[in-house]
Amino acid sequence: MNIEIIEASQKKEKPDWSSDLGFGKIFTDHMFTMDWTAEQGWCNAKIEPYAPICMDPASLVLHYAQETFEGLKAYKTKDGRVLLFRPEMNARRFANSNRRLCMPEMDEEMFVEAVAAVVNYEKDWIPTAEGTSLYIRPFMFATEAAVGVHPSNAYKFMILLSPVGAYYPEGVNPVKIYVEDEYVRATKGGTGFTKCGGNYAASIAAQVKAEKLGYTQVLWLDGVERKYVEEVGTMNVMFKIDNKIVTAPCDGTVLPGVTRDSILQLLTSWGYEVEERHLAIDELMQAGKEGRLEEAFGTGTAAVISPVGELNFKGEITVINDFKTGELTQKLYDTLTGIQWGDVADTYGWTREVK
Ligand code: COI
Repeated sequence: MNIEIIEASQKKEKPDWSSDLGFGKIFTDHMFTMDWTAEQGWCNAKIEPYAPICMDPASLVLHYAQETFEGLKAYKTKDGRVLLFRPEMNARRFANSNRRLCMPEMDEEMFVEAVAAVVNYEKDWIPTAEGTSLYIRPFMFATEAAVGVHPSNAYKFMILLSPVGAYYPEGVNPVKIYVEDEYVRATKGGTGFTKCGGNYAASIAAQVKAEKLGYTQVLWLDGVERKYVEEVGTMNVMFKIDNKIVTAPCDGTVLPGVTRDSILQLLTSWGYEVEERHLAIDELMQAGKEGRLEEAFGTGTAAVISPVGELNFKGEITVINDFKTGELTQKLYDTLTGIQWGDVADTYGWTREVK
């Protein structure tokens, strides 16, 4: 791919990496942009100064939400190498999302090449303090100016970079989760398995409700029977019950998380029995009541591994592991982040060095 480079004439001051970076509030000096048109396909690849973009108010994305995105991170190792974690999985999921939303697919190599190019260009922005990384946000949206529902004939693909700390204000400490029984996130045949902005727009009402009640996130139940556990707002979720790990299967309504897949592989290699199955909320709450729900944790790129300390379902409360981070949860966090930061041997070949 031929990438035009336009250097920013003014660079921003970088934050103190050991300060609290928060999540997604600071952006680097440059961004990646590329266009797609029906006539030319992908064209105009650029790394250019981070700046507002000019759009026609009739751009289809603003009316019918043809938009997809990804999330991955870059890490700087102690010896100064820059690593991406399984970027080809994000590339594959992006293609699946785009196919479902009738948007152009980008081949895997092109996606990874664009990510690596802009990360390499901005590598001085990768924070080095413990628990920090450079969050990478690739996204694509419909730019044809028209009123009328149809696949756009033009799109823009962009990549933004943001140095981040922990996603939740709790850091790596247990979060409280509200089990949502009024709103639904996804049903079979819908877009639950994709990473599209619309899924998140529809989730905000539940998120606001949960926050008002003092909860960090919602746990979604299936959209048909409101009975089976699916995922948490911004992460997949796993439960350790009777020493087995249970998580929802990726059969159309759950986001196929890169962290989810990595954790399932680690657990299997450590000899844990893993069940990808429909887990009824009643079964989960009963296990909590009987003390058999030993640990619970979310998995996600932004959230990494996030222990769950409390579940509230219709006012019934289950506190998990005395609201402390479980032993297995901690071991998974340490192993995963150790591989990502280059401190633990990557026997899986998950990391990819950017040069
Ligand atoms: C991620 O984990 O990368 C996400 O995209 C979740 C959230 C920030 C929407």
